[in-house]
Amino acid sequence: SPIISDSEYDALFQELLDLEDKHPGLRTSDSPSQRVGGAPLDKFSQVQHTIPMLSLENAFSDDDLYNFEKRLQNYLNQNNAISYIAEPKIDGLAVELVYLDGLLAQASTRGDGTTGEDITAQIKTVSAIPLKLRELYPGRLEIRGEVFMNRDGFNKLNQQQQSEGKPLFANPRNAAAGSLRQLDPAITAKRPLRFFTYAVSQPSVTHCTTQSSLLEKLQHLGLPTNRHTIVCRSIKEVTDNLKNLSELRHALPYEIDGMVVKVDSFDLQARLGNKSRAPRWAIACKFPATQATSKIISVEFQIGRTGAITPVANLEPVNIDGVTVSRATLHNQDEIDRKDLHVGDTVLIQRAGDVIPEVVKAIEEKRDGSEIPIIIPPNCPECDSPLEKPEGEAITRCNNNLCPAQQLRTLAHFTSKAGLDIEGLGKKYIEQLFSLNIIKTIPDIFTLKAEQLIHLDGWGDKSAEKTIAAIEERRQPELHRFIAALGIRFIGEVTATTIENSFANVTDLSQATTEALLEIESIGAQAANSLVAYFSNPVVIQMLEALEQAGVNPQKKITQNLKELKLSNEIILFTGSLQKFSRNEAKKIVKENGGQIATTVTKKTTIVVAGEKAGSKRKKAEELGKTILSEDEFLQMLK
Ligand code: IVH
Repeated sequence: SPIISDSEYDALFQELLDLEDKHPGLRTSDSPSQRVGGAPLDKFSQVQHTIPMLSLENAFSDDDLYNFEKRLQNYLNQNNAISYIAEPKIDGLAVELVYLDGLLAQASTRGDGTTGEDITAQIKTVSAIPLKLRELYPGRLEIRGEVFMNRDGFNKLNQQQQSEGKPLFANPRNAAAGSLRQLDPAITAKRPLRFFTYAVSQPSVTHCTTQSSLLEKLQHLGLPTNRHTIVCRSIKEVTDNLKNLSELRHALPYEIDGMVVKVDSFDLQARLGNKSRAPRWAIACKFPATQATSKIISVEFQIGRTGAITPVANLEPVNIDGVTVSRATLHNQDEIDRKDLHVGDTVLIQRAGDVIPEVVKAIEEKRDGSEIPIIIPPNCPECDSPLEKPEGEAITRCNNNLCPAQQLRTLAHFTSKAGLDIEGLGKKYIEQLFSLNIIKTIPDIFTLKAEQLIHLDGWGDKSAEKTIAAIEERRQPELHRFIAALGIRFIGEVTATTIENSFANVTDLSQATTEALLEIESIGAQAANSLVAYFSNPVVIQMLEALEQAGVNPQKKITQNLKELKLSNEIILFTGSLQKFSRNEAKKIVKENGGQIATTVTKKTTIVVAGEKAGSKRKKAEELGKTILSEDEFLQMLK
């Protein structure tokens, strides 16, 4: 449970090393620089490593890598190209496994590099670690590798910790370390630990000549190795690979904090040898940290397009991976409660790749009692209507359709790229026109006149006219884009396209029942219910009428020749059990021939194809006097 982030620790440690370099007299025997890792806990019995488990020096840039190679060449007194192996630096904890005649005999942590803790019983619960090697291996083999936890395993573990009222782990590495150092191996067994091997203590005993061939051999023996390991024929290839790996970093299911570069040849490794803390033949290129500590200054409650309230923390600005982070999402009240967050708390912040920064946990040790609990207010901060948090749901909502914050977001979404993509009406301008009461609802966009814009801040004749022309261009939008632009909950671009295929126009869609919607492939209950709720809302009904009056007429994408196809103008319903083709095939046939599929019998249905055991739908079709065809008759019709 760290009280500062790794990057802050690294910076302090580096400062200490620099100071001790300048003033060697100040280097004491108990200085942290004199240890490789943490001292072993005395509750585990101790294990002496036959060969010390060393640490690695760090590189932070391509230059550092080129200098690394120069040092190697100087040391070897040669200019020949050197082959390297580049391996992901797995962010877990180092362990040593001793196999005797192929059987796992002992496992230990790195400890201070010389003496570690005996964790044999705990390691035996890690399923990725073989208790017996797959091939005969006589004698003693000391394997080294990293025990770690996948991100999803870590998230599940933290959820469980929370539900049991236990403290959260800051990251997968801490969770892995905490899980392995359980005196009771039964607890370790319940933790989702994994393992990759990356070394043996004495390569010479394996008869391999290179690290790359050793890794292959270890894989053969049943020990998992990492598949993103690559042999590089030059330091240039190493730097290229570093770039690739750093791009892959956040897509991997486990955390890596860098790339380890090793000289591939064991001969060269032996010639190069070790310094006190680290080998000369390897270096760790560290990726930028993804975590840092900061302080929650205040919390804002943002209202989304669909009324969802998101608490957002304002933070003391902190740099993570070159980006200044001053805000982080707190997700919802459940998350705030789970992490027990307060205004004034010192917190661990995480930002990985493009993901929105989030607060990982509060650092309780830093509290002074002045912290204030964070609670989503009972009323909407924008329109003051009471907020609701349905039982069993995490999200608190403002259910007032007329809430100005929601209206503004709805408008901004409507004109954005995800909506109708109206040039000139980006978020900034929508905010301006909304605050000036010029555009309050979607239909207002289509009655906008150039004269209303020309004199406003940031507008001129040209931009006003261009914007009006862009709006004009969207007066007949494609149906699916229009549906997506409305910003209905659970209805994104993909679902909108599915919907377009099943309805002739917005009016038809707005009158569809939940039952009818559910019959559309890939429309689930959430989407169906959301659509029905949306279109039965009086505010929406009024808006659609206003849009129609403003001449907005969403169009289905119909190609010209579709009109001449066999089934154009037909709305066909299939009922009963079909023998000649499946439902999906039937749908495909109808669409290919220009027809439309109906899922309930209505006045608009033109043909009903009835298979065996057709029931109520067939009866209804008969009552309405519809054409009823057998499967054969339907196929005949297409010939
Ligand atoms: S080689 C003498 N390879 O990084 C070389 N280490 O700071 C010893 N690590 O203690 C390590 N992935 O916990 C090596 N592919 C890899 C690694 C790796 C992660 C860790 C390991 C080690 C630390 C060095």
